[in-house]
Amino acid sequence: MKRSEINTIMRESLAFLRARQFLLPPFATWTPEEWRKKGPECRDIVAQQLGWDITDFGSGAFDKVGLFLFTIRNGTFEDLKRTDGKIYAEKILIVQPNQVTPTHFHHQKMEDIINRGGGELVIQFWNSTPDERLADTDVVLSVDGVRTVIKAGTTITLKPGESVCIRQKQYHKFWGAAGKGTVLVGEVSRVNDDHVDNRFLDPVGRFPDIEEDEPPLYLLYNDYRRYYRNM
Ligand SMILES: [Fe+2]
Repeated sequence: MKRSEINTIMRESLAFLRARQFLLPPFATWTPEEWRKKGPECRDIVAQQLGWDITDFGSGAFDKVGLFLFTIRNGTFEDLKRTDGKIYAEKILIVQPNQVTPTHFHHQKMEDIINRGGGELVIQFWNSTPDERLADTDVVLSVDGVRTVIKAGTTITLKPGESVCIRQKQYHKFWGAAGKGTVLVGEVSRVNDDHVDNRFLDPVGRFPDIEEDEPPLYLLYNDYRRYYRNM
């Protein structure tokens, strides 16, 4: 992705979130120059991988295969080993109609995906086999507390206010319903580490290669290491 495209998505996403009265924490709008001056008190933001996460999964076509995410809170995998660790996470996502997030599961993360307003979110499910392929067995979901059994490869559609709990190793693929508008999506989950916890059915680039055609407006969390001096 070009940095200019990422900057544009940041501007448009901030406007969309403001219009829906979903406001981001202060570090969302720290500039790269401000990041250079931040001290060790900001280490948790970096260690917990908080912040902007915009990806086209290597597709080169963000509108077709891509996702906007912002990690608002998170722990680390170290926290999972402690009885008093921060073992939860929260993200906000924006999904466009027909914009696909490719089929994947999480080894460790259980996540609730929540339609927080706008359009409708379509999610397709499969169980996984021991060798991490698509199983043909029925998928058992909890849809807002209601046990729901669907056939492998079929979809559910979340309307505003609705949510589903996705368990570890359940393959899922999602997109915004055609003709229904942009969807604001919440994610509440166990600790998240996108560098190690995702299994994509087909190879994708979870993080985009970036062509630096202009300076970053704000930093993606993968940019911190280039600007923050107190890692
Ligand atoms: Fe997921």
